[in-house]
Amino acid sequence: MSDRLVVVGAGAVGSAVAWAAARERLAAEVVLVDPDPGSGASRVAGGMLAPISEAWPGEREVLELGAASLERWPGFAAAVASDADLPVGLRREGTLQVAVDSADVADLDRVAEHLRAWGRPVERLTGRELRHREPALGPGVRAGLAVPDDLAVDNRVLLDALGAACRARGVVVDRRRVDRVVDDGVRVTGVAVDGSQVLEADRVVVAAGAWSGALHPVLDGRVRPVKGEILRVRARRSSLPPPSRTVRASVSGRPVYAVPRDGGRLVVGATQYEAGFDPDVLVGGVRDLIGDVERVLPGVADYALDESAASFRPGTDDNLPVLGAVGPSGLFAATGHGRNGMLLVAVTVDALTAALRGDPLPGAASAAAADRSTVAPG
Ligand code: GLY
Repeated sequence: MSDRLVVVGAGAVGSAVAWAAARERLAAEVVLVDPDPGSGASRVAGGMLAPISEAWPGEREVLELGAASLERWPGFAAAVASDADLPVGLRREGTLQVAVDSADVADLDRVAEHLRAWGRPVERLTGRELRHREPALGPGVRAGLAVPDDLAVDNRVLLDALGAACRARGVVVDRRRVDRVVDDGVRVTGVAVDGSQVLEADRVVVAAGAWSGALHPVLDGRVRPVKGEILRVRARRSSLPPPSRTVRASVSGRPVYAVPRDGGRLVVGATQYEAGFDPDVLVGGVRDLIGDVERVLPGVADYALDESAASFRPGTDDNLPVLGAVGPSGLFAATGHGRNGMLLVAVTVDALTAALRGDPLPGAASAAAADRSTVAPG
């Protein structure tokens, strides 16, 4: 058998790992297997690269991993853009995290306090100061935090760039469905595809997002689908202009975000609940997203509604991803990224290239090692 690396799943994570493995010549042949590349959670993502505004007290390792990935993002983006000869859609305007009622303001203060205690200060702003920076914010916004170092990426632009970067590095795309990873009890021998055939492989990276658990018994139960619904809206000629920064808010305890895209468009997200692999966008989800985003950005009522979509985040019990060697020799995981797939793609690339070389996972990624014992946060 030749030195073949198979990566299962052509979302942002799988495509990036396949690209990096080919670029670093970690195998003679890299095959990326997916019946419909770029159609899963990566296509529906908001694209916030925002470890600090996603951080929550008690999740220090998640924050540290996200911060490590954010640091790597500009270099990762430049390398992908150079190989692809395409833009990757990176935005640098930062995030405003805002609150509209007193309970949400209290939460905001708690988050700011924890971040200060972790040495990651953020700027506290009044409603008036926020509206000065971002006139699209409505009069109901009472307070907020500015996080200028957060980035954002247009997920679909990134997926196109990763596809082109993979092609430029000779990654072979195989559009069959992987049913499971095959091993001989000691080491991986390939993947079973389309019911009966086997694609032989020396090493396999499972990067199939919420579907990863079904691909090998060692991943069974490690990852579960966490449904999210989003909307894509667009400012019309007559509309108030959209914000230039990512706006995140808590409205009556429900998180909502609006992430700018070029052309006056916004991605508004996201619901979060567990419903297995139910693919439907529910009316109640759309109602909540519209109601909540209007409390924060009232001008959105006049925007065009271009799209609603649902997908499945790969959730884990401790909210850390599952990275690196696991189970039989030659099996690797790059999954379980939860709400943070886009953010963590850069650190995942470094973690998986280290693992494929046989090295330990670097720095903050060691907390996400696939062979850790997981305990849900208390
Ligand atoms: N990272 C945003 C979300 O999962 O909705």
